Amino acid sequence: MSKRLDSLNIVLIGMSGAGKTSIGKNIARKLNMEFIDTDDIIIESTGKSIDFIFKEYGEEYFRQLEKNVIEKVSLYENKVISTGGGVILNEENVNELKKKGVIYYLSASVDTLYKNLSPSIKADNRRPLLKYSKDLIEEIRKLYEERESLYISSADYIIEVDGKLADAIGDELISIFNSLYSCS
Ligand code: S3P
Repeated sequence: MSKRLDSLNIVLIGMSGAGKTSIGKNIARKLNMEFIDTDDIIIESTGKSIDFIFKEYGEEYFRQLEKNVIEKVSLYENKVISTGGGVILNEENVNELKKKGVIYYLSASVDTLYKNLSPSIKADNRRPLLKYSKDLIEEIRKLYEERESLYISSADYIIEVDGKLADAIGDELISIFNSLYSCS
């Protein structure tokens, strides 16, 4: 690997509801790294919610904002970066993130995603693609089917999250991350 190992980012990809935020924070705390969420950066820099951006300006505009943020955070080092579920829709995003990062796909079944998302989706102003769907599990299934192969092809490693706690998933990911150092 030509990337510098002492400064790598840990990049989390996966569907909404896979646990990128809670697992990312768990890892960041354990490794004493800074946690970054690309949706948070979009919200902070625009002063608008993601729901509002989709409604007022459309998804394409959101994807451009997302791309700009990915370009920026891809230059960082030694961070845990949680990305929005649609980041893999643009191959350039993935290429940018790979320059200084190792990409982990948090793979969850449709049932797990539904279980995690359904209690709060109606009050959620970060997930307009799912919030306004008439049939949440069907919409999750549709996005999952559209995206699953992209998540897999974008990832350096795949972590199965079904039935596991964030703490255990964090440890699993950290042990893969640490093994990169012992192999170098
Ligand atoms: C999206 C997922 C969201 C957010 C936006 C679009 C998607 O992020 O970026 O609503 O296309 O799947 P999370 O994956 O954090 O929910």
